[in-house]
Amino acid sequence: KKDLLTTTHLTLQEIHNILETAQQFAEGMVWKPETQKFVANLFFEPSTRTKSSFEAAERRLGLDIIPFEVGTSSVLKGETLYDTVKTLEVIGVNAVVIRHTADNYFDELAEGISIPVLNGGDGCGHHPTQSLLDLLTIRQEFGSFEGLNIAIIGDTLHSRVARSNADVLSRLGANVVFSGPKEWFDVERMPEGCRFVPVDQAIAEADVVMLLRIQHERHSDGEKINVKDYHLKYGLTVEREARMKHGSIIMHPAPINRGVEIADCLVESERSRIFKQMQNGVYVRMAVLKRALENQEGGIGYVAAD
Ligand code: CP
Repeated sequence: KKDLLTTTHLTLQEIHNILETAQQFAEGMVWKPETQKFVANLFFEPSTRTKSSFEAAERRLGLDIIPFEVGTSSVLKGETLYDTVKTLEVIGVNAVVIRHTADNYFDELAEGISIPVLNGGDGCGHHPTQSLLDLLTIRQEFGSFEGLNIAIIGDTLHSRVARSNADVLSRLGANVVFSGPKEWFDVERMPEGCRFVPVDQAIAEADVVMLLRIQHERHSDGEKINVKDYHLKYGLTVEREARMKHGSIIMHPAPINRGVEIADCLVESERSRIFKQMQNGVYVRMAVLKRALENQEGGIGYVAAD
């Protein structure tokens, strides 16, 4: 079955195939499954972009969405994630999208669940569709990844995007560096070969400046961050943006802390591809849903051979 759990699980060929399909969707390709397919979106953590763009993708593909809200489900009675997904599977759901607070929540679904699981983000672990939409945005801009300088700047310690992107971009031939507060850079958790460089150098050399949100909700209470101080020391200020290379772009997975990791006026500036990334999120999610559902046996209307 075609799960999408991490980008590390994907071969380069699979990544290129997903990006190509997503680009075709961006250019107007239409694909719908031959039989009725049901999907459910299980969000155990807040989301605007991932949840609504998965839903937009599902509707564009003509899928039937079975509404699921954690707050009105039997999760509140203590039902496990495994039993929740198994229940959805046996009532006919063909694929589930899950965002969960626990790192690698999908490990408990590895045995016994037959329908594809699409990871919408696991704790501080992975966010594969975010990485793929970032890749699509870079590919649209530069055509390929080979030799590009990518600077990932900010809360690398808590970011599920940072590690996924560093891994996949390095495998695709880009040079990835990290920057921000050095104490937030954990070399042990980063892919081999990724370096830490001071923020002014990282920004001046980058083709892509990829900013990360300070994840206040994952920092302990004793770790209060002065946001004004952060902006001046590590943020993309107007002065730093003026030193960016010709043709370089700004990205951010959002939500954005305007005026903290990026100056408010740069969020929608000419270099910014932040809202383009969100638009590409719909096409990437259409591509991974197609990958999960095409050639899948079952679904209403499917008649098994004797
Ligand atoms: N980038 C991202 O995952 O945004 P949401 O948390 O709003 O889904």
